Amino acid sequence: MRIHVVDHPLVAHKLTTLRDKRTDSPTFRRLSDELVTLLAYEATRDVRTEQVDIESPVCATTGVKLSHPRPLVVPILRAGLGMLDGMVRLLPTAEVGFLGMIRNEETLKAETYATRMPDDLSGRQVYVLDPMLATGGTLVAAINELIERGADDVTAITLLAAPEGVEVMQRDLAGAPVTVVTASVDERLNEAGYIVPGLGDAGDRMYG
Ligand code: PRP
Repeated sequence: MRIHVVDHPLVAHKLTTLRDKRTDSPTFRRLSDELVTLLAYEATRDVRTEQVDIESPVCATTGVKLSHPRPLVVPILRAGLGMLDGMVRLLPTAEVGFLGMIRNEETLKAETYATRMPDDLSGRQVYVLDPMLATGGTLVAAINELIERGADDVTAITLLAAPEGVEVMQRDLAGAPVTVVTASVDERLNEAGYIVPGLGDAGDRMYG
C-alpha cells in the first residue's frame, strides 16, 4: 500500500476552513466538493489510458483516451457521498457503485449495511471515497470487498487520515495494489476514535 499526501496551498487552505468548527453545513459541503476535485486530480495520475488516432483541424495525430473497462467510483455512505460530485466532475464517464458502512461507535468496528456495485470487478480500477481514515476498519473492509470482486488497482481518497489508521492499512493491505491519497495525516486518534485535530464527524457536519 502506498500513501500520497497532497501538498498544495489550495488544499491546505480549504482543509483549514473545513476544520474550523464555525464552518456551517452548506459551506462544508461546498468546500469538500472543491477539495475532492483537487485530490482527484492527483489520485487519477495513474488512470489507465490507451492511445488513439485522431485528426485535428490541421493534421492527423495521436492522443489518449480512458481505457475500457471504465473506472468505478465507490463512495462510502454516508459521508463519502459528499465527495462524489467532485470526483465525477473529473471522471464523468466513470461507473458509480455504492457501499453503505457505519462504524459502531462503541466497538469502533465497521459494519456494512448496503452494497450496490458490479459483482465482477476483474481488471477494474476503483476509486473509493471516504472523508475520514480513522482506525482504518472501514477502508480495510471496503477495499477487501473490492479486491475479492477482482479489482486490481484501488485508490482511496480521503480528506484526512490518522497515523494509526494508515498503519492498520499498511499492515492489513500489505502487498495489495492500493494507494491512499489524502490532504493530511493528522497527529493521532483520541480515545473516542476521532482524528486529532481532525474536523469532527464528517457525516454530521455534511448532513447532520
Ligand atoms: C465515519 C467516516 C468513515 C469512518 C472512519 O463514518 O466517514 O466512514 O467513520 O472510521 P474508521 O477508519 O475508524 O473505520 P461513520 O461510521 O460515522 O458513518 P457516516 O459516514 O454515515 O457518518
